Amino acid sequence: MPDQMIKAGVVGWPIGHSRSPLIHNHWIDSLGLSGTYEAIAIDPKNFEADIHSLIEAGYAGVNCTVPHKHAALAIADRVDASAQNIGAANTLIFAADGSIEARNTDAIGFMENLRAGAPSFDFNGKTALVLGAGGAARAIVYGLIEAGIGQVLLANRTKDRATELQNSLDGPIDVLDGDDREIALADADLLVNTTSLGMVGSPSLDMALDNLRPKALVTDIVYAPLETPLLAAARARGNVAVDGLGMLLHQAAPAFAAWFGVMPTVDVALRQLIIDDLEQNK
Ligand code: ATR
Repeated sequence: MPDQMIKAGVVGWPIGHSRSPLIHNHWIDSLGLSGTYEAIAIDPKNFEADIHSLIEAGYAGVNCTVPHKHAALAIADRVDASAQNIGAANTLIFAADGSIEARNTDAIGFMENLRAGAPSFDFNGKTALVLGAGGAARAIVYGLIEAGIGQVLLANRTKDRATELQNSLDGPIDVLDGDDREIALADADLLVNTTSLGMVGSPSLDMALDNLRPKALVTDIVYAPLETPLLAAARARGNVAVDGLGMLLHQAAPAFAAWFGVMPTVDVALRQLIIDDLEQNK
């Protein structure tokens, strides 16, 4: 009997830039599974109707990227704790009865990347300085709280957004004035950039690292370039720094497992595949 063909994909608007098809098709091929994973453009105006068309066409589910992460949560019949707390979903799972489950794997992706890149770092009771208060920051702060972080110091250009994030999550979050982030570095065991600063085509993140503790771990969600100026400056000081590509790879794994029934591994070959793609599309 032939294997059951499993169909999944990523929906966004526009969708051309997504690297999710490369990641998931690498796993489909390397695990010898029978399946497809496509990039699917969905106009926000038609989101709900188009998702139902995919369910009727037999899809197992989809990843949701910009601008659909909130709409994905709104149309779901069931929502996991991550998506509920983060207020957005990046993964939809379609059940056999046509119902929709929404999950958010970004927090897991962030945490698994740090666990892989800095295995000896213990989050329990530690202080994290998080830069930014957008959607990515929300997932990351939730992940850190779930991992037992002792304190999150949140610094954002627009302070009100940081206060909003603080009020929407249950946990030890303190909001800083933007000017205080360099001072707060002296207390941080972990520094996370969740803003787009430092990304190709964006302004650089202007932050002096003089107060960075020698044992502090530094990470950036930006992965183009892979070695952001922040990571390079941290490494130059002797700090451990973890790049953002792993977050993209690790957030994909639990979604793949939900649809294809196998937990894939994030290995060197996958990482190289995406690095090569980043190089080609510079
Ligand atoms: P994402 O979903 O990737 O987090 P987002 O919700 O648009 O995207 O959030 C972008 C984050 O980067 C925000 O924290 C934003 O700061 P504001 O809330 O003040 O907008 C931050 N950011 C983007 N461009 C910035 C810039 N030039 N200077 C400082 N912060 C910036």
